[in-house]
Amino acid sequence: MAAANSRKKSIVKKKTAARSPRAATKTAAARKTAIAGKPAAAGKPAAKPAKKSSNPLGLEKKPAGQFDTLQEIALEAYRKMPPPVWDHLMGGSDSETTLRRNRAGLDALALRQRVLVDVRNIDMGTSLLGQKLDIPVFPAPVGGFLSKVHHEGGPAVARAASSRGTTAFIATAAKPSLEAAQAAVERKLVFQLYVRGDRTWIEGVLDRVKAAGYAALCVTVDRNYYGRRERDIVSGLPVKEGFGDQSYQASLNWKDLLWMKARVGLPLIAKGVATAEDAELAVEHGADVVYVSNHGGRQLDHAQGSIEVLEEVVRAVAGRAEVLADGGVQRGTDVVKMLCLGARAVGVGKLLGLALSAGGEAGVARMLELMEVEIRHALGLMGVTSIKQLGPQWLRAVPVLGTSSPVGAYPLLEEAVRRRSR
Ligand SMILES: Cc1cc2nc3c(=O)[nH]c(=O)nc-3n(C[C@H](O)[C@H](O)[C@H](O)COP(=O)(O)O)c2cc1C
Repeated sequence: MAAANSRKKSIVKKKTAARSPRAATKTAAARKTAIAGKPAAAGKPAAKPAKKSSNPLGLEKKPAGQFDTLQEIALEAYRKMPPPVWDHLMGGSDSETTLRRNRAGLDALALRQRVLVDVRNIDMGTSLLGQKLDIPVFPAPVGGFLSKVHHEGGPAVARAASSRGTTAFIATAAKPSLEAAQAAVERKLVFQLYVRGDRTWIEGVLDRVKAAGYAALCVTVDRNYYGRRERDIVSGLPVKEGFGDQSYQASLNWKDLLWMKARVGLPLIAKGVATAEDAELAVEHGADVVYVSNHGGRQLDHAQGSIEVLEEVVRAVAGRAEVLADGGVQRGTDVVKMLCLGARAVGVGKLLGLALSAGGEAGVARMLELMEVEIRHALGLMGVTSIKQLGPQWLRAVPVLGTSSPVGAYPLLEEAVRRRSR
């Protein structure tokens, strides 16, 4: 048997050499180079026989940090992050029903497709408050988390977003400062406000936001209480956002929005709207943008999934403001679905955290690039040449396959989490 095998091998070798002797030498040298990591000296035969490969199928492992898919980004982040930090990023409040509904709502929609359309050129450009965005995706504000996984979270995210032609939302808790993030890029960013003090405190922040050159003020309105994120409570992870005097945030009301807008003199975004009634009030109280969000399932438990409320909000706004959305978005197809239901652009929160953890600034830029690739593929395969053509006619309600998991969009990650292997 062994003799037969070695005969077979030598026949294969001879055949290759006969086809192209030069190619055969090159291939052998290249193989040796790949194994030894350095080129073979020209004309010298290999001194030792090549080591037995630990990779018999010939599958080359990619160098660290080289991501060709969003799953690889998520997997790398999973490998790198200590379990409590992973739980903080990926978890939700209480029973995590809202968290799961964000994905379930997206999974319950299928895309329709038309064929034989010339889709060589696809326009996925959009705009936010007059600012052109090359892709309909932006990094959502993810507060102090950025600095848990990167030494200068705010500027890194700002630069990555800007390099992919989009804007970024910079949170109140972003480090090192709101000024540093905006100073890192020419493109104007959006500042997201949490209220941590009285009106004098707010005035101080708003004046800094204006002076730093931000494009707009985003006030988060779904965080009057800090969601009970039980994973953090159980692990004991110190999460600053949950401390301090929460009563200022809890006392916020619609009149405060009007006052803040007048004080800052910038367009206003109300983030965390989830009903038609509040969409109406937001427009009445000066919101130029209504941002549909449930905080990635981290606030009110047993709420509806973001995409489930998007349509009613878009209808209530009726073109009087722009509409943004986020919640459970992990794939280009998720973005397309939200655009179909009327969002102008879509935010990513957890995916931003994963990308920053996996690859720093370059990881975030790559994540946005891969999102762009996925959106282009989805649109091309749907027979759509511009995101302006999207609308509810491209969607169909379908039964969800299995149970919607918060990481279900990445089967390899889901498997790793199930096996608890890192
Ligand atoms: C770790 C983390 C921190 C967050 N911090 C903030 C914040 O400071 N301000 C805010 O408005 N939203 C914050 N959010 C919510 C996001 O802006 C966004 O609404 C949400 O993450 C979108 O859902 P997704 O994570 O499923 O993409 C945070 C989300 C995460 C995951």
